[in-house]
Amino acid sequence: MDWQEIYKRKLVSAEEAIKAVHDNDRIIAGFGCAEPFEIERALSDACENYKNVEFITMITLRDSPWHEEKMHGHIKLNCLFASAPTRHGIASGLSDYTTSYFHEIPQLLRCYLQPRVAFVSVSPPDKHGYVSFGTNVDYIYEACNTAEVVIAQVNRYMPRTFGAGIKHVSEITYFVEHDEPLPEVKDAPLTDVEIRIGKYCAELIQDGDCLQLGIGGIPNAVCSQLYDKKDLGLHSELISDGVVPLLKAGIINNKRKTRHPGKTIIGFAFGTKNLNDFIDDNPTVELMPIDYVNNPTVIASNDNVVSINSCLQIDLLGQVVSDTIGLNQFSGVGGQVDFVRGATMSRGGRSIIAMPSTAKKGTVSRIVPFISEGGVVTTTRNDIHYIVTEHGYAQLKGLTTKERARALIQIAHPDFRDELYEEFKKRFHISD
Ligand code: COA
Repeated sequence: MDWQEIYKRKLVSAEEAIKAVHDNDRIIAGFGCAEPFEIERALSDACENYKNVEFITMITLRDSPWHEEKMHGHIKLNCLFASAPTRHGIASGLSDYTTSYFHEIPQLLRCYLQPRVAFVSVSPPDKHGYVSFGTNVDYIYEACNTAEVVIAQVNRYMPRTFGAGIKHVSEITYFVEHDEPLPEVKDAPLTDVEIRIGKYCAELIQDGDCLQLGIGGIPNAVCSQLYDKKDLGLHSELISDGVVPLLKAGIINNKRKTRHPGKTIIGFAFGTKNLNDFIDDNPTVELMPIDYVNNPTVIASNDNVVSINSCLQIDLLGQVVSDTIGLNQFSGVGGQVDFVRGATMSRGGRSIIAMPSTAKKGTVSRIVPFISEGGVVTTTRNDIHYIVTEHGYAQLKGLTTKERARALIQIAHPDFRDELYEEFKKRFHISD
C-alpha cells in the first residue's frame, strides 16, 4: 500500500480519534507551540465520557481547560513545568506537578509514567510520506516510541524541520487534519535593567563560544548585546526569536563547534511565526530528542559552552531557586541543571545565572539571606559559576562561603545591600 493510502485510512475527526482514549489512561501531549489543540478540544468537550484520565504536558500557552469544574473525576492535568495558565490549578491542588531534569523526561516516560496515548502536532506529510514534529522534538520523540496509540494533529502551519523529528505515516495511529496558527511566545520590549544584564553577560562571552540560552526575559537581552561577536555556536534546549537576526547575520555560524559543526542543535523552538519561518525547511537547524540535546555529556562534548539561564531567588550561599516562589510552583527545572553541568564539564565552559537584582517592581531583593519558606533549590551552590545582575557579576567557584556571600552582596540592589550585610555579619559572626 502506498503512503497516501495508509494516510487516508488513518484520517479521522478529532471526535473519532479520542475514542481511542480509555478510562484510567495516561496521555502525554506536545507543548508550547506544538500543543495539539484540536485533539485536546475534542477530549475536553467529551470529558464526561472518561474516568480517571491523566493528561500530562509541559508549558501551555493558552487558557487551560483542565481546571474546569466539569473535569473533576474525569481528567486531571499533570504538568512537567508550570506556566501562567496552569500555576493556579497546581497551587489549588486541582492539578499535579511532576519534577524532573528535562533530559530525564524521556526516561520518565519510558520507565515510570508509561503513557498509553500520545497527542502530537505534525506538519502535513512530505512527498515520501513523512510528517515532521516541527517546532518540538524534545520529549515527543520518546512519547511516540512509548505510547501504544499516537494521535497526530496535522497542521499546515507547523514547519517541517530537520533532525530526528520525523515519522512515517505508518507509525502514527490516527491523523486529525486541522489547520490553525501556532501559539506564539511574544517578547516584551527589553527593559533598561535587562539590557544592563545582557551587557554583563556579553562580557563573559568570547568569540567562538557555544551558547545555550534559557527561558524568560533575559535570553533576548543577551542576544541584543552579541552583535560585535564572531563565530558563535548554538546548542540549546530551546531558541526564541532573539537568535534569528544573529543567525541571519552569521554571528552565530556554528563554525567552531566541536560537535555538530555548522549546525544549530535544539530541542524545541519557542517563539513567533518569524522563528518558525526561519526553522522551516532549514537544514542548518536540527531538532533532536531532549535526552540527547540536554544530556550533560553531549553538551560538554562542545568546547567553550556558555549556558545562560535565569532564576527567581539566590541565597547568600549561592543556592539558586529558579522554579518556585515560596510554596508556589512558578515554572519548572527545565534544562537549567542539565546545561549548568554540561557547561561546567565542557573544556573552557562557563555557566551563567542572570537575573534582575529585584522583583515585584523593586520591592523585594532576589538575593536573600535565606530562601523563602517552601522554596526549592533548583541548582545547588556547588554547581554555580557566574551570577549576573544589572549591578555586575560574581564568580563563585573556589570562593569560601564568606567570600561568596560578599560577592553576591556586591551585585545586590543598593537598596538591599545594608540589610544583607547585617544578615551576613550575624551568620558568619562578624562584628564590624
Ligand atoms: N519573589 C517574588 N516574586 C518574584 C521573585 C521573588 N524572588 N522573583 C520573581 N518574581 C516575580 C517577578 O516580579 C515577576 O512578576 P511580575 O511579572 O508580576 O513582575 C514574575 O515573578 C516572573 O519573574 P521574571 O524574572 O520576570 O521571570 P522570567 O519570565 O524572566 O523567567 C524564570 C525567569 C527563572 C522563572 C525562568 O527562567 C525559569 O523558569 N527558569 C527555570 C528553568 C530554566 O532555567 N530552564 C533553562 C532552559 S529552558
